[in-house]
Amino acid sequence: MSTDLDAPIRDAKICRVVYSTEQIAARVAEMGREITRHYEGREDLLVIGLLKGSFIFVADLVRTIHFPHHVDFLIASSYGTGMDSSGIVEFLYDPGVRIQGRHVILVEDIVDTGSTIDLVLPLLEKRGPESLELCVLLHKRRVRLKKEPRWVGFDAPQEFLVGYGLDHAESFRHLPFIGSL
Ligand code: IMP
Ligand code: MG
Repeated sequence: MSTDLDAPIRDAKICRVVYSTEQIAARVAEMGREITRHYEGREDLLVIGLLKGSFIFVADLVRTIHFPHHVDFLIASSYGTGMDSSGIVEFLYDPGVRIQGRHVILVEDIVDTGSTIDLVLPLLEKRGPESLELCVLLHKRRVRLKKEPRWVGFDAPQEFLVGYGLDHAESFRHLPFIGSL
């Protein structure tokens, strides 16, 4: 049976599919296995997704982590519009879930300049987690982060990527694959 999962490409200004639905699913399942192994025997895992870009990745990832854990989300924003290099970040949405003493994985869709992660991680560290690791789906490897992610889905090309949660001006998040604009 032919699948029409890639049909949205006909409507979008996507120049090529970079990671197909199948490639993403396979890699996410691998990451879930690694995470499951890493935290084996430990309790109190909290997976925190950075919205909005990580919403699909988190939904798929947590279903591949094979022990009970909790899931939450944060929205981080620099002052002004979107993520820029103002160097100041605040949480626009923060449910204030307990982080103290817990094993925490921060999940991000993509690392480009690294400024989002470099600014958000210290804010979470201040809350006293037992451990804090970073899991990102895509890493453009343009910079060295203050703390590199323990889990990276793909080393991404230096292109603007959309789909599977990633947007351009809020469009394209719904695409089941990752494409280049
Ligand atoms: P950074 O702070 O420069 O590392 O960028 C992080 C944020 O910018 C990500 O969470 C995305 O929301 C956005 N971003 C960076 N590169 C891309 C891209 O190629 N496509 C879509 N969003 C991106
Ligand atoms: Mg983002």
